[in-house]
Amino acid sequence: MCYNIAAMAKYIVENSGPLFGEVTISGAKNAALPILAATVLTDGVCEINEVPRLKDIDVMCRILRSLGAAVEEDWENHSITVDGSGINVSEVPYDLVKLMRASIFVMGPLLARLGKASIAQPGGCAIGSRPIDLHAKGLRLLGARVAIDDGMVNASVDRLKGTLVYLDFPSVGATENIMMAATLAGGVTTIENAAEEPEIVDLASFLNKMGARIKGAGTDTIKIEGVKKLHGTRHAVIPDRIETGTFMVAAAITRGNVLIKNCLPDHVRPVIAKLIECGAVVQDELDGLRVRGDVNRLVATSIKTLPYPGFPTDMQAPFMALLTTVSGESTVIETVFENRFMHAAELSRMGANIRVDGSVAKVPGDKRPLVGAPVMATDLRAGAALVLAGLVAKGTTEVSEIYHVERGYEGFVEKLSALGAKIRLVED
Ligand code: UD1
Repeated sequence: MCYNIAAMAKYIVENSGPLFGEVTISGAKNAALPILAATVLTDGVCEINEVPRLKDIDVMCRILRSLGAAVEEDWENHSITVDGSGINVSEVPYDLVKLMRASIFVMGPLLARLGKASIAQPGGCAIGSRPIDLHAKGLRLLGARVAIDDGMVNASVDRLKGTLVYLDFPSVGATENIMMAATLAGGVTTIENAAEEPEIVDLASFLNKMGARIKGAGTDTIKIEGVKKLHGTRHAVIPDRIETGTFMVAAAITRGNVLIKNCLPDHVRPVIAKLIECGAVVQDELDGLRVRGDVNRLVATSIKTLPYPGFPTDMQAPFMALLTTVSGESTVIETVFENRFMHAAELSRMGANIRVDGSVAKVPGDKRPLVGAPVMATDLRAGAALVLAGLVAKGTTEVSEIYHVERGYEGFVEKLSALGAKIRLVED
């Protein structure tokens, strides 16, 4: 498995024919990251299982160590143990934050545990400006002083105090940060218009195992009754719903037949619905989801990204790749991020001829078959989309900037290759 790859590494992807076989989904990156950050809330020992081996997880472990935690990584068992008894540093420098925006997840836990937190302000990225105003708003309402000076977010408080926090948008990260901070606040915190993503539910279930009192995670109203102290525990991270969706689309786009194991169908309902609208067959089997693209002619559909349980923004790019191969014109509307169509231009370099107007993209479909080309992964999911497109494009596709992809998909090349994909990673 590739884990630390060179900046110049590329994927070379060839037209592969239908993918067949079985793939096992890893633990969810976006659940593991806040859960690891939440270990800061206790001086006890936490064992986190089903952690995917990814660069982002490595960065979070480095952050925890820099704060004073003892972190043991057991990659044979995908398990990480964090002993938080030594945590006494409240600052995360830019060197680490620049590697991963999710560094901001330690803000709420540090504030609750040590009464202060200084984290370099995360910058924007290819998919939008990505402000942290909602994180700051929530922590301020809980009584913290939060100031943004010279690129640092500095927060301090004597003791956080439970209150009502209404989020103007159901931000996943803000909901998580506020929920973690509120576990040790005095009194009850209610988060309204909270994000409802499965990763929030997984984080709440971990926190509750640590002794927190959280109700309503998975709905738009979360209530957290603060407690004095949290203790160590053991937890297994949920399967990754975006990796699941990506392999579902891989089966459909190649007109293959793939059994996806270790997934939770309930977490990918919008992807299932849209694949069925396109004409793919999705069957719930005893040990997984079977996706078949080899039965019907696939046809156009429309997708609109929304917070959970709507169609996930993280599946927009991979699904757009599929829509370039179906009969008829599809419409894709992005409502969660302001600039998440960079892959449309790259797919168009492969011949897809996608027209983007603001937050709407028109995908003409299979009138313009894809042709291999050198393309660039502008972000994690864009990179996955280009790989999927490369599997069905005529000739060879070279995907550069693939460190984005390797940040979020454990063993992507190995898993695709086992299904018959012609993909290899070259370091130069
Ligand atoms: C998380 C996921 C990411 C996914 C996204 C939306 C992790 C590590 N990442 O990111 O893969 O694409 O949810 O499902 O879990 N916003 C503000 N102010 C804030 C916070 C967010 O305006 O303080 C805006 C963002 O700019 C964006 C929207 O809210 O337009 C959604 O962002 P958010 O839900 O916070 O995404 P993340 O938690 O960053």
